[in-house]
Amino acid sequence: MSDAPHATPLADQAAYAEAVAAAVAAAAAYYTDGSSPLDDDAYDRLVRGIEAYEAAHPQQVLPGTPTGKVAGGAVVGDVPHTVPMLSLDNVFSAADLVSWAAGLERRLGHPVARWSVEPKLDGLAVSARYRAGRLTQLVTRGDGVAGEDVSHAIGTVLGLPATLTEPVTVEIRGEVLMTATQFEAANAARTAHDGVPFANARSAAAGTLRARERAYKCEMTFFGYGALPFPPDDDSELAGRLRVLAHSELMDLVAALGVATTAATPVAGTTATTLDEIQARIGEIAALRAELPFGIDGIVVKADLAADQERAGFSSRAPRWATAYKLPATEKITKLLAVEWNVGRTGVIAPRAVLEPVRLDGSLVTYATLHNPADITRRGLMLGDSVTVYKAGDVIPRIEAPVVHLRTGDEQPIAFPELCPRCNGEIDTSQERWRCVRGRACHAVASISYAVGRDQLDIEGLGGTRIVQLVEAGLIADFADLFTLTRDQILGLDRMADISTDNLLAAIAKAKEKPLNKVFCALGVRGTGRSMSRRIARHFGTMEAIRAADVAGVQAVEGIGPEKAAVMVEELAELAPLVEKLVVAGVNMTEPGVTPPDETSPAETSALPLLGMSVVVTGSMAARWPSCPEIR
Ligand code: IVH
Repeated sequence: MSDAPHATPLADQAAYAEAVAAAVAAAAAYYTDGSSPLDDDAYDRLVRGIEAYEAAHPQQVLPGTPTGKVAGGAVVGDVPHTVPMLSLDNVFSAADLVSWAAGLERRLGHPVARWSVEPKLDGLAVSARYRAGRLTQLVTRGDGVAGEDVSHAIGTVLGLPATLTEPVTVEIRGEVLMTATQFEAANAARTAHDGVPFANARSAAAGTLRARERAYKCEMTFFGYGALPFPPDDDSELAGRLRVLAHSELMDLVAALGVATTAATPVAGTTATTLDEIQARIGEIAALRAELPFGIDGIVVKADLAADQERAGFSSRAPRWATAYKLPATEKITKLLAVEWNVGRTGVIAPRAVLEPVRLDGSLVTYATLHNPADITRRGLMLGDSVTVYKAGDVIPRIEAPVVHLRTGDEQPIAFPELCPRCNGEIDTSQERWRCVRGRACHAVASISYAVGRDQLDIEGLGGTRIVQLVEAGLIADFADLFTLTRDQILGLDRMADISTDNLLAAIAKAKEKPLNKVFCALGVRGTGRSMSRRIARHFGTMEAIRAADVAGVQAVEGIGPEKAAVMVEELAELAPLVEKLVVAGVNMTEPGVTPPDETSPAETSALPLLGMSVVVTGSMAARWPSCPEIR
């Protein structure tokens, strides 16, 4: 899937010493407050360079080297761990995984009967100590041997209940992270209290977990990935079971005790018996990554059976029975060079970040969305800032936050436009999204082009250049004007002959007969693309019924929540003059086969294709994880 990051080449002993110092400093920042000056990729490259240099010059290895140490040897704590909290070794491709598995099976002397495959959560490892069913202590990983007591965070971590379902004594290990919503809330709270925003969800979780005295509370989330007898020589019945259960069984037990595991998320841990099955699950988890409301940076493959784990044992840094299949980085640090302000087809003036190009998740990223001016202010962004940029799958790249500790003092404030950058008209700044006061009229060409597009009115022969001509000639100001164009007006345009004029007129006439869903879609109401327009048209049947609906009425359409419903009602009110013009022009305003809800009649049945039929639906569905409303 992905290749290992290239090693940073180190030319001589001085470069090596410098690299060791830089890596140790970065690891210290990363594992303490999460504020590393290097992104994951840059850190991995540096450590690989150090490893390569040490392999070639074993006599020069510095004692402070981060290689072979948990957390790069950078952090220490004062609460000794019962059993060391180790790292994981990495593989970067399917071929690496095959050879890692072969090595493990050679060591064991037999094939691994069952594997467990689960997401590698991108947060911080913590150990949660439960005594007689009560959560009594929370400890970070630290250097793996001892960690920091962060028990003050108890009560702010979803998934780590104060009491278990049984009064047992046990140590649960797992990852503390912030979901996207928790991260947004944490940054909002922090900036409201004059703090600088966190660069990403991971550093927000790291900073929050260690913060003792804050005027505000930020919620975090925990997922367990291990359970051990506590203390290690405990001879209780539970301790006995913990020693012999397979990893997958341990996870069931952790969940039964009331602690969150990934079981209720779409990337639940599963078991596999062959490498092909492992690879298939890796593919599935990787594909789900972009939609997850929490960060994962790989997939952990573990020998599932306790006997295999025991026989394989540990190196000083990591278990030999598990490895992390790393996914490509989705976040990097780059420079914010400029901010452009573009006017969309509804007149919204949207800022766009121009970045120093950076390779991210398989593509070169030069632009990122910045939502709106308030968002820029909230994030405290400045021109010239180093910023964390996030992209996964098809997601439009976005700036997460400035990396404030990398500021040089040369950063400049971002200037907000005072006039509409398209028409120089006034800007309505009363909402978070700024808009040209002329609304859709400001960028008529864009909204007309959208309306005549294939998924809307599908008017053939009406390309962008032709629309510009029509708008510039003052013949149309919106797409309703198309329906009153005369033959002579069109013929008068540059490069319009008899045949092309007749074809265009015929295409416009045909558009008048389009079903309501296409006409509605052409209006370009925010959040109503092709399939949503179809649902709306099927639900209401006529444009009149759509326009008569209030927020509650609109919400009755599947997939429309209160926010979208409010936007729709507001935009439809604004679009009323355009809709009137369409009605006058004789454009169809009904959905064939549908009767409006308050006029229910037998005819309506034709819009319900499954009515009267018995239907069997098969398949499986991931349960919804209750503490994470973003998963549906
Ligand atoms: S198992 C001894 N499972 O990754 C076993 N670790 O890079 C070590 N991590 O320190 C942990 N998701 O903080 C395990 N499903 C998972 C994990 C996971 C994330 C973290 C953990 C560990 C780090 C190693």
